Amino acid sequence: MTSIGIHDLSVATAHYVVDLTELAEAAGVPPQKYLTGLGQEAMSFPAPDEDIVTMGAAAALPILERHGTERIRTVLFATESGIDQSKAAGVFVHKLLGLPSGVRVVELKQACYSGTAALQLAAGIVARDPREQVLLIASDIARYQLDTPGEPTQGAAAAAMLVSADPALLELEPTTGIHTADVNDFWRPNDSTTAMVDGGLSLRAYLASLMGAWDDFHARGGAGFHTIERFVYHQPFTKMAQKAHARLSQHTSHAVSINALKGSLDYNRVLGNSYTASLYVGLAAMLDNSDDLAGRRVGLFSYGSGSVGEFFTGIVQPDYARHRRREATLAALEARHPLDIEGYRALHSAHTESSQDRETPHVTSAPFRFSGIQGQARQYEAN
Ligand code: CAA
Repeated sequence: MTSIGIHDLSVATAHYVVDLTELAEAAGVPPQKYLTGLGQEAMSFPAPDEDIVTMGAAAALPILERHGTERIRTVLFATESGIDQSKAAGVFVHKLLGLPSGVRVVELKQACYSGTAALQLAAGIVARDPREQVLLIASDIARYQLDTPGEPTQGAAAAAMLVSADPALLELEPTTGIHTADVNDFWRPNDSTTAMVDGGLSLRAYLASLMGAWDDFHARGGAGFHTIERFVYHQPFTKMAQKAHARLSQHTSHAVSINALKGSLDYNRVLGNSYTASLYVGLAAMLDNSDDLAGRRVGLFSYGSGSVGEFFTGIVQPDYARHRRREATLAALEARHPLDIEGYRALHSAHTESSQDRETPHVTSAPFRFSGIQGQARQYEAN
């Protein structure tokens, strides 16, 4: 059987970074609530000329520079921060990256889960014709209202992946466990720029989904818990991954291993929630921060509120260390500009999803920017 999986994985984030100690102090909250209670130190925040398209294209660009475009026949764009009700964000990316016309492009939505749906669809496309590769982009901006409990769990990032036969990073194993349930834990109505959330319910729904997905995985003959070396979880905030792993360990009657999550929280802790990208940012962090994973099995849990959860596994490939992008990701995190609380609140309040014509100020130094709206259509350009 053809081995199929993630051949390349690249992460991009936003122009600004907000320090959560400063946010806590401004809100009159003990900083330890955010630092320890949520496990978050900082959050990326976009400039007015950035969005899911500019971050997604920035994440994908290095993949095309390394592998070319010849084998790419599909672009799947996963997001819950959609910028149009009709046109797929990936079509803008297709143009910015100069992809050939013989490439199908589509957008997928189911909260933070759709990146994983895209991965499974991509694996199917590659199985049908292993000469083809799929460019998968998961890109999101997590926005909650100011002065709400969700505020410290905002963030922004994109993860781009090349899915192919004979992957260099992670071979996907075919058995997956799925759990879908209609829950009103988190959603974003069409007339709101920020998410509605029932925080307590969202935590319970996440954990219920993990148990349901695991039980389905187990029933379908998935790998035993003890054979899984490392785990990567969807991370709305990094403490959630620790809670999830403790609960799954208890559910499967295993002691919690301190190494199980090693490295996987490092990027999310400083860039915040990135919804569809979050799990794959976690995977990048795990691969980047461990040199001894070749041949090891990794378990991944994807959760999208509303809700769909999926548990699946993959085998880290022998040469993965040569193909990861640690320096580039650290450089992207380092390049962010600190934004003080006054500046952050002003930008947050000024954010609009209006389609009125306008030009955006030139702020970002990313490879692509959102230059404004003309004739009610979004405009993008190389920077
Ligand atoms: N020092 C150390 N820890 C402290 C502390 C202090 N001074 N004060 C509080 N804490 C701890 C609390 O004990 C708690 O930890 P435990 O849960 O381990 O006990 C933690 O800090 C958070 O405190 P609260 O529960 O009181 O926090 P809150 O109610 O103000 O908000 C939240 C927490 C509900 C997660 C909120 O941030 C929120 O609504 N976030 C958005 C929704 C979300 O992220 N849900 C996650 C599951 S849904 C999902 O995963 C999809 C997605 O991406 C959104």
